[in-house]
Amino acid sequence: MTAASEVFYRKVLADPLLSPYFDDVDMDRQVAKQAAFLTMALGGPNAYTGRDLRTAHAGLAGLTDDHVDHVIAHLADTLRELGAADDDIAGAGAIAASVRDDVLNR
Ligand code: HEM
Repeated sequence: MTAASEVFYRKVLADPLLSPYFDDVDMDRQVAKQAAFLTMALGGPNAYTGRDLRTAHAGLAGLTDDHVDHVIAHLADTLRELGAADDDIAGAGAIAASVRDDVLNR
């Protein structure tokens, strides 16, 4: 999970569409976010409700489907690089996509 977090983190921060949103986020929160994101995406304990994700992203101005698409693509690339099976990658993408409306506050 640490390896996955590092790979995912690097991809998100290297993406000019996404990186500005993390300028003011401290390191602890970024690490917590990655771990929570990956645990959720991999079907781990469902510790986050839609309401939590909605609240967490409500203050991020200008988020669009594009941003979510990029995040999901980085997640899939990360899992692929780590040797995950195609079925698991598709499953993780579907779970991430299922919270799209909460993240986009709609
Ligand atoms: C695919 C859907 C996404 C999931 C599952 C997800 C998951 C999460 C989680 C679990 C947190 C931590 C919430 C907390 O502890 O309060 C969080 C925070 C955050 N997310 Fe996401 N996220 C998603 C999409 C995005 C996108 C598209 C962006 C924009 C680039 C983004 C930017 C952020 C930022 C900046 C924070 C920290 C907010 C703060 O500290 O105030 N997320 N996300």
